[in-house]
Amino acid sequence: MANQQFTDIGACVFDAYGTLFDVHSAAARCRDDLGEKADAVSQAWRVRQLEYTWLRSLMGRHADFWRVTGDALDYALEAHGIDDAALRDRLMDCYLELDAYPDVKDALERLKGAGLKCAILSNGSPDMLESAARGAGIAGLFDALLSVEDVGIYKPHPSVYQLAVDRLGVAAERIAFQSSNGFDACGAASFGFRVAWVNRFGQQPERLPGTADAELASLAELPALLGL
Ligand code: LAC
Repeated sequence: MANQQFTDIGACVFDAYGTLFDVHSAAARCRDDLGEKADAVSQAWRVRQLEYTWLRSLMGRHADFWRVTGDALDYALEAHGIDDAALRDRLMDCYLELDAYPDVKDALERLKGAGLKCAILSNGSPDMLESAARGAGIAGLFDALLSVEDVGIYKPHPSVYQLAVDRLGVAAERIAFQSSNGFDACGAASFGFRVAWVNRFGQQPERLPGTADAELASLAELPALLGL
């Protein structure tokens, strides 16, 4: 797909987990303990984590992302026959300091250098987002870290995307929203953002309402998309 440049953008808003931060870096750091189960545990952890956000939203039983992440990890560990409280705590600690993808910092610096407002909009709880951004050395590059905790429901509920409009004071059609999570790209496009799907893993598009306006291989391509 040939990307058409985004024009008249007033703010760049980023998904966090999977887009800025590598969710699999937690299990990777505990590979010595997880052994050959590391990748499978990490995949199951992420899948259950997202499923629990959607299911809790449908059930009207919100709990914050730290709780959901812990529940999902407990499920994934048990599914793989691992019963190790110390390892569980280590994995959760690692989740607070995930690696940022290598293209993230440079892209953000270029956007900030061009005077663009930048923010995170994530399922993550405020503490998790602050910790991850600080750990990756990118906290100072954001004007706001916006969490679904302020609306009490998870992505892709429209009220989550509305939070960015309200907090940043920028109309939806002037917000460039970047996500590697296909469902989030669809949700944001359906809401009315200009969406760049950062398809880091060459996945096929989701069959959901809302189509991203651009597809990028990484955030290194974002400055050019914005005409910088
Ligand atoms: C987030 C999830 C989608 O950061 O990973 O909001």
